[in-house]
Parts: sequence; C-alpha cells; structure tokens
Amino acid sequence: MVSHVKTVAFQGIEALPVDVQVMIAPGKIGMQIVGLPDKAVAESRERVQAALHASGLALPAKKVTINLAPADLPKEGSHFDLPIALGLMAALGAIPSDALQNYVVLGELALDGTISPVAGALPAAIGANAMERGLICPHGCGSEAAWAGEDMDILAPQSLIAVANHFRGTQVLTRPKPTRHEAAKDLPDLADIKGQETAKRALEVAAAGGHNLLMVGPPGSGKSMLAARLSSILPPLSPAELLSVSMVHSIAGQLSGGKLTDQRPFRAPHHSATMAAMVGGGVKARPGEVSMAHKGVLFLDEFPEFSPQVLDSLRQPLETSNCIIARANHRVNYPADIQLIAAMNPCRCGMAGEPGHTCARGPRCKTDYQGRISGPLLDRIDLRIDVPAVTAMDLIQPKPSEPSENVALRVLRARNMQLERYRNLGFPEITLNARCPTAQIEQVAKMDQEGSALLNEAAQKMLFSARAYHRVLKVARTLADLDNSIVVKRIHLAEAISYRIAGERLMENA
Ligand SMILES: Nc1ncnc2c1ncn2[C@@H]1O[C@H](COP(=O)(O)OP(=O)(O)OP(=O)(O)O)[C@@H](O)[C@H]1O
Ligand SMILES: [Mg+2]
Repeated sequence: MVSHVKTVAFQGIEALPVDVQVMIAPGKIGMQIVGLPDKAVAESRERVQAALHASGLALPAKKVTINLAPADLPKEGSHFDLPIALGLMAALGAIPSDALQNYVVLGELALDGTISPVAGALPAAIGANAMERGLICPHGCGSEAAWAGEDMDILAPQSLIAVANHFRGTQVLTRPKPTRHEAAKDLPDLADIKGQETAKRALEVAAAGGHNLLMVGPPGSGKSMLAARLSSILPPLSPAELLSVSMVHSIAGQLSGGKLTDQRPFRAPHHSATMAAMVGGGVKARPGEVSMAHKGVLFLDEFPEFSPQVLDSLRQPLETSNCIIARANHRVNYPADIQLIAAMNPCRCGMAGEPGHTCARGPRCKTDYQGRISGPLLDRIDLRIDVPAVTAMDLIQPKPSEPSENVALRVLRARNMQLERYRNLGFPEITLNARCPTAQIEQVAKMDQEGSALLNEAAQKMLFSARAYHRVLKVARTLADLDNSIVVKRIHLAEAISYRIAGERLMENA
C-alpha cells in the first residue's frame, strides 16, 4: 500500500505542492528516496530512520521507497523530513492512514525525534490555505504559520510522538497564535542631526513618495547618520505588505522567533557584497539583500565602493520591483519593491568641492571615483543632494531640530493621499508616487501653467531623458502632496528640478 502526504517545494516565494509517496514492499532491505532530491533531502533518510527509532518505531525488514512527485521539480532543503516520517508512520499504522489527507506537512527532524524549525513556514501555510488544507509544521514555526488564516487548522508539534498522540486523541495539540514583535521604540531620531536642513527635507520627500535618494558629501557630514534615521519617519507596513515582506523573510529563514514585525525593512549590506548576496541566487536559491529590503529601504553606504557589476545588477529590480534569477533548470522570482538610499564621498580623498581644497591626485581623484557608478543607475535616482560639512555655527549653537515624530506625521499624511489617489484611479496595487506608471503620471501630476512652462524650459535646457522628465514629475507630485495641494505648482517643480540638477552637475564634473 502507498501512503500519501502533501508537502511543498519552494520556487521563489511560491510554495508548489509536492506529493510524498511512501511504499513498503517486500524486497531488498533498505530505504531509498527518489524524485530529484538535493543533498539535504537525500540525507533525510538518515534523520528519519534515527528519529523513528528514537520514537520507538522500528522500520520493517522490507524495501522502503519514497517518491517525491512531481519528479521533475527540484526539491531543496530539509523540510521533507517530517512528511517522509509521517508517511512512514501512516504506512506502519502508527497514525491513522487518513489522518494526514487534509494537511500539508513540513519540518526537519532531529535524531531524537524532535521537530526543528525550517525556513518557509509562512509561504507554506499560505499555500496550504489556498489548497484548502491545514498545516503541520514545527513548534517553532507555529506562530508564523498562524498568520496565514484565522480559521485554518494548524498543528505545531514538538516531536513525532506529539503528532502520534494528537491523532490518537490522547494529547490534542492546540492551535498556535500569531505573534508580532513590539515596534521598536528607541530608533535614532532626526533631532540628533544638527544643521543639514536640505538633506533632512530630501529625506522627508524620499520617505513620503518612496523615491530613491543619493547623498554626496565629505566624510563626517552626517550621511550615514541621516540614512539611519529614515526608519523613524517611515510609516509601518500595512497588513498586506506585512505578509508579503514576511514571506520573503520566512523563505530566507530570517523571521526571528517566528514573529512578524510591521517595521519596514532597512537593509544596509557592506560594500563587499557579491552579486548573489545582493540580488539572490547562489547554489541554493536564496533571496538577496534587494528582496530582503522588499517594501522597505536598501541603504548602500560608500556607494562607489560596491563592485560596478553588483551595482548594475540593481537596475532591473529598481525598474520592475522584482528580481528574476535564471538558473540552469528553472527561474526564481523574488519580489524586490525597494527604495534605494545611497551615500558617497565626492572623490577618493573625500573632499572634492570643499572650499579651499584641491585633491592631491588632481581631477582624476573625482572622475575615477564617480565613474564607478553607471549613468543608467544614476538615472534611476530621483533625488540627489549635496551634504556639505556641518558648519561650526550649526554644531556649537544648533537651531532646535524637528523630532522624527513630527516628520513621520507629514510623511504618513502624504502617503495616505497617494493611497487614496491610486485607489480612486483603479490602481490599488500602487501606493507611492515613485511607482506611478509612466502612462498615468501626467494625469496624476496636473501642473499649473507656470509650472508647466518651467518644466518645459528646464527639460530643453538640460536635455532631460524621457525617464528624467517623468521622474521629475513624480517628485513634484510628492512635493505637492506634502504641501496638501491638488495641482503641482511651479514651486514644487522648481524644487524637484533642483534635486535633479544636483545629480546632473555631479555627472558633468565626472
Ligand atoms: N549633522 C550632524 N549633526 C550631529 N553630528 C554629526 C553631524 N554630522 C556628523 N556628525 C557626527 O559625525 C559622526 C560621523 O557621521 P557620519 O558617519 O554620518 O558621516 P558620513 O557623512 O557618513 O561620513 P563618511 O563619508 O566618512 O561615511 C557622527 O557619528 C556624528 O557624531
Ligand atoms: Mg558614512
């Protein structure tokens, strides 16, 4: 007789159904796993045998065959242990044969029969819910899986024995509760930053409209400090965003304690990051930093120090909000709807453009350094600002600085206006001006006459690319939203253009 247990294989953040078929038949004694297993799955044989033995179950002296169907779908990871073990227990009569038919099962086994947490419990639970099944997952993943649906049947046993007892009715398992991390209260505050009013304003605009931002300035002017304070002015994730972000983190095995958090991700990889670390992939497909920053911020400090290939690999995710990794036998797609914040010095010695300074290596100090960032990547950055050294005046007698709390309120108001606008237009999936489709932007950002004249003049004088033109409009729309204005006025366009010009100047000098 063949016993069947449903589990899943992950492709990107999608959980694809896999049927684990277990057959015990006369023949050569041994256990074999077939169906394109990777190394972790093949090793499952040893763990399952030991765990069953530790739970007081001996395998019969027969031939045991385990097939993971469909056979052409690659199976990665250690979460196949539990479905295989439960399939065997059902075949041996240790649990009723029909007990598992309404469940999707995943979990890794320790040699003593306990069930260890695995990556991907949340997407598996969402997949199971879509298949109208319950889920059996490790105890440590229960609270994460419980987010998939309020009335979904979820079992999160500690061990194989607990599963057997549950189905025998001797010790019934209770449904785990969804848990959430407390929102962090001690985030660094914008009020710590002295001076730098332009940079703070640009940070607020970036937060309000989801625009990409590049800060250029000498060492110690507060660029890293500013970026670290962005989290404190961003609104929390909406419930739908919370789930989509947590799916990626769950697949990467980085949901600490199975708890979800509504704080937007803020990822700041070191500049030695490789392409696989940045966009994902590698021998085992894993989401990269861009996907871990989904719906949040990817902060690249010391921007030109990243390898130019790694930087250019960001061009596609920045444009499509997705990261597609093609591998020899399949394609994996991870979401990557990010806001890029970058910081850099203007040149290798860091002081180019500072009053009274001349680089020891001459103009090449600057051109070589800035040349590491490609034009097309720079073209995707809407806001580019100079962050000059803080003046002594500002340091010694600072003007009172606005706390993050106040700025966050304005950002939230502007974001709510955007949400409502795109919902009314029939694009509920768009939440930010930065993501507004090009076809809609002119309708969304209606300019007054003076504004339109200014933009036309600027576009002609500065030879804006089509992308630049649309991006200026998007930033202007955000500025108008911050101003609570329906029309985009000349003053908004002037400010949006000024953010663009800073970048054009940067490249001109390069
Ligand atoms: N505007 C500021 N207000 C208060 N302190 C500041 C400011 N700018 C810099 N500092 C101080 O200088 C330190 C260094 O700042 P930060 O690391 O942000 O500089 P940076 O611009 O990122 O420099 P680098 O280019 O070398 O990375 C901060 O820890 C802080 O103590
Ligand atoms: Mg820095």
